[in-house]
Amino acid sequence: MLQSEIWDDEAAKSYDTPGTGMFAPEVLGPTVDRLVELAGGGRAVEFAVGTGRVAVPLAQRGVPVSGIELSQPMIDQLRTKADEATIPVVAGDMATARVPGEHQLVYLVFNTVSNLLTQDEQVACFRNAARHLAPGGRFVVELWVPELRKLPPGQSAVVCQSSTGYIGLDTYDVLHQQVVSHHFRFDASGGREARLFRSPHRYVWPAELDLMAQLAGMTLESRHADWSGAEFTAQSPSHVSVYRTAEAR
Ligand SMILES: C[S@@+](CC[C@H](N)C(=O)[O-])C[C@H]1O[C@@H](n2cnc3c(N)ncnc32)[C@H](O)[C@@H]1O
Repeated sequence: MLQSEIWDDEAAKSYDTPGTGMFAPEVLGPTVDRLVELAGGGRAVEFAVGTGRVAVPLAQRGVPVSGIELSQPMIDQLRTKADEATIPVVAGDMATARVPGEHQLVYLVFNTVSNLLTQDEQVACFRNAARHLAPGGRFVVELWVPELRKLPPGQSAVVCQSSTGYIGLDTYDVLHQQVVSHHFRFDASGGREARLFRSPHRYVWPAELDLMAQLAGMTLESRHADWSGAEFTAQSPSHVSVYRTAEAR
């Protein structure tokens, strides 16, 4: 299934959950605070900007931010919140599309580097991030840590999250380094029916990301377990990694 088929009109219209989930202030607040700091007064680009969950509050904090986004329905939703002058968006693939100009910060959050399904595309994405950056500029990646340790021998599915009315299952293909996330949302009337949203990903370990950064001429500056700077440990379910291009001599 193509990303453009996944991020269709229906997905775009139901993406925003103001005040809750990934739009909760306790999620977005630290994310935006850290990105403001990392932008250091310069310009930023969000790869896979989506409906502007992060870009809109970042622009409101005074950071000039542009986006790259594959899905026109997601861009249309963003346009209900910010016009082209406030958040310019290039429609295209984050592995290849180019926002004009030089930037201090490129960021790719909410596990979206894994939406690129091959190693070649992910390496191209790192190279594209580096192309957008001024010397000393930063590329920030937020990504989950693959949960292979939770897989008993012979089993390929892991429950990644469950709460009232929702269950999330990841099915792993460890031979090809692929995972499909299945999000089941049950209706309120006794849960007899569920809506299913499925997305394919290529999972990546932090060490492989570091190597991709190296191929693109960047080095790891910091890795934390979250946006507030918690220590990244063997138990951390995800990480925020900051890569940096070399300073000008
Ligand atoms: C989980 S959403 C994240 C959106 C936004 N970054 C956020 O944090 O809310 C994933 C987004 O990635 C976009 N996307 C997937 N593959 C892409 C690609 N190759 N280039 C650009 N955008 C892509 C999808 O269209 C979708 O808008």
